Amino acid sequence: MKNVRDLFAIDGRVAIITGGAGLLGFQHASAIAAAGGIPVLIDISEQHAKAATEKLADEYGVASSYVIADITSHDAVAAACDEVLRRHGRADILINNAANNPKLENTTETNFSRFENFPIAQWEADIAVGLTGALLCSQRFGTFMAEAGRGVILNIASDLAVIAPDQRLYRQEGTPEHLQPVKPVTYSIVKSALVGLTRYLATYWADKGVRVNAISPGGVHNGQPDEFVSRLSKLIPMQRMASLSEYQGSVLFLCSDASSYMTGANLIVDGGRTVW
Ligand SMILES: NC(=O)c1ccc[n+]([C@@H]2O[C@H](COP(=O)([O-])OP(=O)(O)OC[C@H]3O[C@@H](n4cnc5c(N)ncnc54)[C@H](O)[C@@H]3O)[C@@H](O)[C@H]2O)c1
Repeated sequence: MKNVRDLFAIDGRVAIITGGAGLLGFQHASAIAAAGGIPVLIDISEQHAKAATEKLADEYGVASSYVIADITSHDAVAAACDEVLRRHGRADILINNAANNPKLENTTETNFSRFENFPIAQWEADIAVGLTGALLCSQRFGTFMAEAGRGVILNIASDLAVIAPDQRLYRQEGTPEHLQPVKPVTYSIVKSALVGLTRYLATYWADKGVRVNAISPGGVHNGQPDEFVSRLSKLIPMQRMASLSEYQGSVLFLCSDASSYMTGANLIVDGGRTVW
């Protein structure tokens, strides 16, 4: 039996992280790099992907790289997968992390976030990135892993895959009722569906050595207004939002052999919010 510390080592394993240039994507990549893995960021933003890759190389001395791709496009994902395999000849870990995060501040005329007004174009755009993107990446990279007989897929869901959004969190003083911003319906839909995709793929590839799990993180503290932080903290038994690096442990756990007997699980890491 391996030393328990060795269970967390992922030396030389190639980890593809969609939305890897974003706030949490970079944190996932850092966890991979710190444990000896090789992060490959897939992102639509060249500027951010380049900066994140350089930072990873500086901080961890790792041969990280990036591929620019729009993961909503079948052909772009196919090309990105070919490029990763050309560079590394392997793909061990896929973290489906990218999401569309439309800003909620639009309170003029009609607030797009409200369910009554929610535009179908926004619905399609959010589902395309969060869900179709995860499907396309899982299809390409997961099929490679199944053929190799080994691999891990990790879907980044949310505490809002487990509970409904508490719309009181987003209320703005002085804004008329019909213009009050809300968490868009697509967030709940995409995150719940990712947990469904997790269970589907976990059983589909269980006999092929590919494990598929999800993490449902709570909100990360990232300079939100004090009022919002205070409201949200009251809904969390631990009375605070997560710090930026606080999901690294669970990401590494689910991407490494430390979780070798786990598949199809949704690991809720939310300071206890969904327990209340
Ligand atoms: N930040 C939080 O508090 C929080 C909490 C729970 C869950 N999550 C989830 O964690 C994940 C990451 O969140 P974040 O806060 O880092 O978001 P972010 O907006 O900082 O990062 C998203 C990244 O995805 C990339 N992206 C967007 N569309 C793309 C496309 N079509 N193709 C390729 N890349 C694309 C963006 O360029 C960006 O780099 C999301 O799935 C989010 O829902 C975040």
